Amino acid sequence: MKNILVTGGAGFIGSNFVKYVLKNYDWNIVNYDKLTYAGNLENLSDVEKNQRYKFVKGDICDEKKVEFTVSENDVDTIVNFAAESHVDRSILGSREFVITNIVGTQVLLDVFKNNNLEKFLQVSTDEVYGSLPENQKELKFTENTPLNTSSPYSASKASADLLCNSYFHTHKLPVLITRCSNNYGPYQFPEKLIPLMLAKALNDENLPVYGDGKNIRDWLFVEDHCSGICTVLEKGKFGEVYNIGGNNEWFNIDIVKLILKLLGKPESLITFVKDRPGHDRRYAIDSSKIQNELGWKPANVFEDGISKTIKWYRENEQWWKKVMSGEYMKYYEQNYAHKIV
Ligand code: NAD
Ligand code: TYD
Repeated sequence: MKNILVTGGAGFIGSNFVKYVLKNYDWNIVNYDKLTYAGNLENLSDVEKNQRYKFVKGDICDEKKVEFTVSENDVDTIVNFAAESHVDRSILGSREFVITNIVGTQVLLDVFKNNNLEKFLQVSTDEVYGSLPENQKELKFTENTPLNTSSPYSASKASADLLCNSYFHTHKLPVLITRCSNNYGPYQFPEKLIPLMLAKALNDENLPVYGDGKNIRDWLFVEDHCSGICTVLEKGKFGEVYNIGGNNEWFNIDIVKLILKLLGKPESLITFVKDRPGHDRRYAIDSSKIQNELGWKPANVFEDGISKTIKWYRENEQWWKKVMSGEYMKYYEQNYAHKIV
């Protein structure tokens, strides 16, 4: 691997991945991103002059542009982060999710096939497995858990996974899939739970917790996700799926209380709002396959990861305030106006 096309590299995980790779590997990176509301080149300002990094503005559904970018840069590997990634947005409207997450992946796979590239890694999510029962703690998602999606977001991600799998079987393409649990860390768009609650708390505004707050998510620091992807790129077996997770389950309400405690803000800011439709109750990843077969393990315990994250949001108020002032505010109105109870 020499020249990697990273799609969606201006988003949360993609931008962390670009920086992680430039720091730890000698690979060249072309970041191919459409710059939707979630793409922000400011995330990459400290690497934009790096000789091994290049940005191309483009849509993964634009086959000609992907094809041109691949041949012009002698790309041998594609890592596909580009996606519509927020469940609540997929409930308000699913068209973009189908177009980018499914059609976009199909376009990338075709370009990959037509150019005989070396490796294709699809960045997927544990949400494709659906919801686990909350009272059977021993049950976790393994790579063999059947796909059982609940939201248009997860349905579109599962569809993309199936397409990747079909190109492996039918066209014998060197395809890898990773499925990670919920990420947190610097540069996460403040529409997802942790950065939204941090921003609200820092602004002394109400923190909207869906339903009874007892939904469970399994949190992983974003850099550990990046190291997991690199491990799979280097050592993964083609046609295989690898779960990535930190064995770190939390009730949403406990995360929110922890954030308030660490910021020294009162719990009275918590406001329970109407639940998300189709809200998955519990996610939990069994990551023993990547740990045992490829030797990966997370480097950050949750206490350190969340402290680093809080420090970053405190020190980078300008970043999230700017992000929240634009189109995002319109979305906030649309998503939360009817939820106030
Ligand atoms: P994000 O929403 O922060 O970023 C998505 C990026 O993709 C943005 O830069 C956006 O501009 C770009 N993009 C969107 N549509 C595009 C298109 N048509 N063409 C080119 N670029 C486009 O998302 P994220 O949280 O960084 O997630 C990245 C990937 O990781 C997604 O595929 C997501 O499903 C997966 N994932 C996320 C999590 C999580 O907790 N955030 C967990 C597991 C897996
Ligand atoms: P989110 O960050 O949207 O990730 P996902 O739904 O993909 O897991 O949400 C994480 C959890 O937090 C989920 O159970 C929904 C809940 N949540 C709230 O309670 N309030 C909010 O305002 C948001 C955005 C999420």
